[in-house]
Amino acid sequence: MMHSKDIYLRPLEIDDLPSRVKWFNDPDINRFLVSDYPVSLAKTKVWFSSACTDPSKLNLSICLVSTNQLIGMTGFLQIDQKNSKAQFYITIGEKHFWGRRFADQVIPLVLDHGFNYLRLNKIYLWTLTVNARARSVYERNGFVEECYLKQHLHCRGQFNDIIQHSIFR
Ligand SMILES: CC(C)(COP(=O)(O)OP(=O)(O)OC[C@H]1O[C@@H](n2cnc3c(N)ncnc32)[C@H](O)[C@@H]1OP(=O)(O)O)[C@@H](O)C(=O)NCCC(=O)NCCS
Repeated sequence: MMHSKDIYLRPLEIDDLPSRVKWFNDPDINRFLVSDYPVSLAKTKVWFSSACTDPSKLNLSICLVSTNQLIGMTGFLQIDQKNSKAQFYITIGEKHFWGRRFADQVIPLVLDHGFNYLRLNKIYLWTLTVNARARSVYERNGFVEECYLKQHLHCRGQFNDIIQHSIFR
């Protein structure tokens, strides 16, 4: 378990999956994600059964210290031990908690785990061009824009340009 003043991170549990499905299926959130939707709870349960033992993934739930409420998800995808890198992700799924700067508490915890426990050299992430809000959060947490990838991902029926941001140990 990783703690800061207002939030803590714990492993994603099966009881968290309905919230995760709700967030992925929310158009206000999905428009910023590089994933197709809708997603089903049934398919998410199948995903979870392999993801929780997959060494290339770290899926964490973001909870409030004050109430234990689950408010979001974070972690790493594509943990690549050979090349010492991983892809970071974060979503505050409960939208009324946007604007509280909780991401500024989440990101340092996950980066610390990546650099000091997993001994990663590089942590990178992708933003869609529309996601200026996320970019400002990543920039103030040390990520630097690395490259622009044209029509790199196909989701929601179209090819999307993405920006790759990274931070090094
Ligand atoms: C990205 C996310 C985790 C950020 O969390 P948050 O609580 O909304 O963000 P914060 O309150 O910490 O900060 C947002 C900052 O962006 C700024 N911002 C908002 N809209 C902006 C815009 N269009 N352009 C630039 N900056 C913007 C805000 O002013 C704020 O900075 P401030 O605190 O100095 O005012 C959250 O919005 C989220 O989960 N979004 C949906 C999913 C998502 O985009 N995930 C990331 C995929 S790469």
